[in-house]
Amino acid sequence: MNNIEELMNTLQQELAEVTNLQELNNLKVKYTGKKGIITELTQNIKNIEPDHRKEYGMNINKLRSSFEENYKKKTYEYEQQKLNEKLQNEKIDITLSATNIVNGAPNILENLIEEVEEVFISLGYDVVDGPEVELDKYNFEMLNIPKGHPARDAQDTFYLENEEILLRSQTSPVQVRMMLQNKGQNPIRMICPGKTYRRDDDDATHSHQFVQIEGLLVDKNVSLSDLKGTIDIIVKKLFGDDIKTRFRPSYYQFTEPSVEVDISCFNCHGKGCNICKKTGWITIAGAGIVHPNVLKMSGYDPQIWSGFAFGFGAERMAMLKYDINDLRVFYNTDLRENKVFDRKEGE
Ligand code: DAH
Repeated sequence: MNNIEELMNTLQQELAEVTNLQELNNLKVKYTGKKGIITELTQNIKNIEPDHRKEYGMNINKLRSSFEENYKKKTYEYEQQKLNEKLQNEKIDITLSATNIVNGAPNILENLIEEVEEVFISLGYDVVDGPEVELDKYNFEMLNIPKGHPARDAQDTFYLENEEILLRSQTSPVQVRMMLQNKGQNPIRMICPGKTYRRDDDDATHSHQFVQIEGLLVDKNVSLSDLKGTIDIIVKKLFGDDIKTRFRPSYYQFTEPSVEVDISCFNCHGKGCNICKKTGWITIAGAGIVHPNVLKMSGYDPQIWSGFAFGFGAERMAMLKYDINDLRVFYNTDLRENKVFDRKEGE
């Protein structure tokens, strides 16, 4: 009997000394586990004299329920404590000001393309698309560049599968597609901004993938002065009203006559600077009057129809407009760089 009382004291003391759940569970094993003290005492009941069994049993039960009660209470306390700690650590201060949300910004090149599109749409042009995987027929042959023509060498082309399928090296094949689509019947006014590909090593001014903005107008009595007036409008819209346009004779197989389009340098206004390489002029496009052969091959009678075409280099225009000296900026996704040129920001 004394033993049990003593045990009760020890148990109380040990319970009082417990400081965490782990220690509490150790005690549980020690007292009520399979080989625990209380368990063994219970099993021992058969060795107790019958007269004392009842009292013995009651005392052991008291011991057990005292332990269990304490165990429950303490477990609850520890769990509460853990929960409180968690709540404390994960506390959200709803009075704090919110973290800034970083706004996105449109890609600089996309911005420029959209601007060009807007001007042409206002002039009644359609914005069309064409495939980037193109047939040799449309990319070269129907543009008056037959197989074996030296002009092909200048456009170091990516061929796919065979000699007939390629990644378009220019957006000019979209001219052919549009004319075929209109079956020699309707006037056409379209621009086609799109990716083009050439086998080039990438650096600050070259990219194996770049963007051209193709344009085609087919109608009756179209002249070089129509082309000049149209180019003039777009240049003034993009670079400013004081910018002049100049045509220089050039050569393309699909236009006759062909020209290079120069604009007066918006930086030095013709005096000569680094941007215009001291010439006062900057080349931004190739253009010309659509070659009669090209009209004919695409189903337009050159006796009735005439047209002009042009091809802008989009990266070049964006580099000039935003004073960028490395075109790789256009293809990375660094928000900070796009934001610098986001004109809409802060408006
Ligand atoms: N496709 C030509 C090139 O990639 C650019 C060009 C020149 C397009 C004259 C035209 C044009 O439509 O008329 O170099």
